[in-house]
Amino acid sequence: MDKETMLAKLDGIENLPTLPVMVQQIQKLINSPNSSMNQIGALISKDQAIAARVVRLVNSAFYGLGRKVSSIPQAIVVLGLNTVKNLVTGVSVIRMFETTDKASIFNRDMFWLHSLGCAMGARLIAKSMGRSEPEDYFLAGLLHDIGVLILDQFFHDEFISVLKHANDATIEYHTAEQKVLGLTHCEVGAIVAEKWKIPDFLIQTMRYHHTSINENPEINCDIINIVHIADVAATNTGLHMGFNEEKKNYFEYALAATGIKQSAIDDAFGVVEKEIKVLKAEWGL
Ligand SMILES: [Fe+2]
Ligand SMILES: [Fe+2]
Repeated sequence: MDKETMLAKLDGIENLPTLPVMVQQIQKLINSPNSSMNQIGALISKDQAIAARVVRLVNSAFYGLGRKVSSIPQAIVVLGLNTVKNLVTGVSVIRMFETTDKASIFNRDMFWLHSLGCAMGARLIAKSMGRSEPEDYFLAGLLHDIGVLILDQFFHDEFISVLKHANDATIEYHTAEQKVLGLTHCEVGAIVAEKWKIPDFLIQTMRYHHTSINENPEINCDIINIVHIADVAATNTGLHMGFNEEKKNYFEYALAATGIKQSAIDDAFGVVEKEIKVLKAEWGL
């Protein structure tokens, strides 16, 4: 299948995963000067399945809160609107991919370990570097490879050809995608995520995490660079997606632009290695 056919097929898939309307409504409410925290809390609480899961996550060891939270409005007070919004988005995206009728030929456990490892590493690095919204880095890391799940689910035969080619030619997975499909999980993820109307930095991270892009005022390069670093570090720590086990290298400019030292990456991934299994259970993955 060539690139044009892939793009046309991607555009034509009618049962593409869709995010709950609620996620878009939250964004709208947040952007509107007249909305209140109570309104936003009430909106999230309406979707009980998501609200319950978010409350459980807020109470998990990851956030280390002293006292338990029992509702979304309380969670917003304790953790802030941005963190709760990110949790709602993360939980909603994960729910979209929970049920699949196709047998996966790769290990989804490994996929989520990789994604969470990258998320957690990106958050810890961002925190240690004094970035203001470490939870944005977490969510960008969690979702960066979502294009792989879309390929597995909607382009299953093509996905199998890519894996086979990567294996036969001993090349990196995303290089094999480019050769076989003419596009990668980066573009596929970004194209689908654009339909979800989630914040731009998430879509940009999906699109550019394997690309050398560093000076573009339209793009949040810092998040992309840190997710790239965490992606490579997760893979090298053994938290790879299961079909690309080669050690990877960082883009030099990503280290230079962010000012991150190898020792900070090592510190972050020491924690990730220790806590990743707990986090996976907390996210219900
Ligand atoms: Fe990737
Ligand atoms: Fe990745």
